[in-house]
Amino acid sequence: MNPRLDALHPYPFEKLRALMAGAVPPAGLAPVSLSIGEPKHPTPAFIEDALRASLKGLSAYPATKGSPALRQAIAAWIARRYGIAPPDADTQVLPVLGSREALFALAQTVIDPSSDSIVLCPNPFYQIYEGAALLAGATPAFVNADPARNFGSDWSSVPAETWRRTALVYVCSPGNPAGNVMDLDAWRTLFALSQEHGFVIAADECYSEIYLDEAEPPLGAMQAAQAVGLTDYRNLIVFSSLSKRSNVPGLRSGFVAGDAALIARFLLYRTYHGSAMSETVAAASLAAWNDEAHVIENRRQYRAKFDAVLPILQDVLDVARPDASFYLWARTPGSDTVFARGVFEQQNVAVLPGSYLAREAHGTNPGAGRIRIALVAPLDACVEGAQRIAAYARTLR
Ligand SMILES: Cc1ncc(COP(=O)(O)O)c(C=O)c1O
Repeated sequence: MNPRLDALHPYPFEKLRALMAGAVPPAGLAPVSLSIGEPKHPTPAFIEDALRASLKGLSAYPATKGSPALRQAIAAWIARRYGIAPPDADTQVLPVLGSREALFALAQTVIDPSSDSIVLCPNPFYQIYEGAALLAGATPAFVNADPARNFGSDWSSVPAETWRRTALVYVCSPGNPAGNVMDLDAWRTLFALSQEHGFVIAADECYSEIYLDEAEPPLGAMQAAQAVGLTDYRNLIVFSSLSKRSNVPGLRSGFVAGDAALIARFLLYRTYHGSAMSETVAAASLAAWNDEAHVIENRRQYRAKFDAVLPILQDVLDVARPDASFYLWARTPGSDTVFARGVFEQQNVAVLPGSYLAREAHGTNPGAGRIRIALVAPLDACVEGAQRIAAYARTLR
């Protein structure tokens, strides 16, 4: 057996199940689940239609590099979305089976297992980054979210000795769980460090289309690279996904884009790993990337939930509207695990303790004392959940 498997941490939802063991919520209250970040809005009919219309694609093995038409549609989407020249669809874009597998696979491509490499992760973070690092034979290290920077990472706080060993940095912007967006100055700092030390930047942008102000789409890593003159995206690879944007988490469709040299190595790895997108999924994905109307409607629904839920929660908890994402990152009065168990036991509402999304690093768990509330349920259920969370929080005063 691969001994590295034993280094993997239990997933946050396993910990949540253990935390709730033996808790019996009131039978008269219907459950409200706000713990898992799974989009629940219906899949647009035109995407289902495109999938159905392409079922013939199942009869052929797909190419790992993906269909040229899809790569071109993705390159054109990047250009429209970020106001930059389209990346080269042949060398700078690759369809992937959702961002999760690609985030994992990139570490296996980039890390030299015989070295003493570090993989730097934000903290709190999406747990795949850490698992990818461990299974690639690297050591994960963490940059704690800084509340004074809207929960962003202070890259200049990382010691030179850590940078020297760093092979890969995961960036999550917009962030999970705080929905924070990395600004151009922070990108400039990180790009300069990458050029100096040679590490790869994996920019996880799976929440890039779930933002709250139509006039202010989040800055993307490729956009930032162009703005600072990193025109060939050297050492940069971005990860994007249709799961949240288009409400198709089951389609397993996304893309990576950026540094052509990195993508060539990634393509080689993926050929052996067997990660190729079926033509059927590619046809549905192409339809999805070519349409923005459904994404605007999707954002409208999330905005309506934030508008309805925030006044209820802000009355009793320290919680703010995020820049993007469908999460609220609320401070708890006291322990986050006690709060999560209490609100489940007394109100039948599931939320995720922040400490389960983070590691103890630099003397603290930066997720402790917060909960993540995912506004994925229908509007009514989110409002009901917020009212019950507020009612529970009032009992703690
Ligand atoms: C931060 C982050 N990155 C990546 C993913 C993976 O999404 P997908 O594989 O559906 O693209 C998720 C899913 O919840 C996420 O929260």
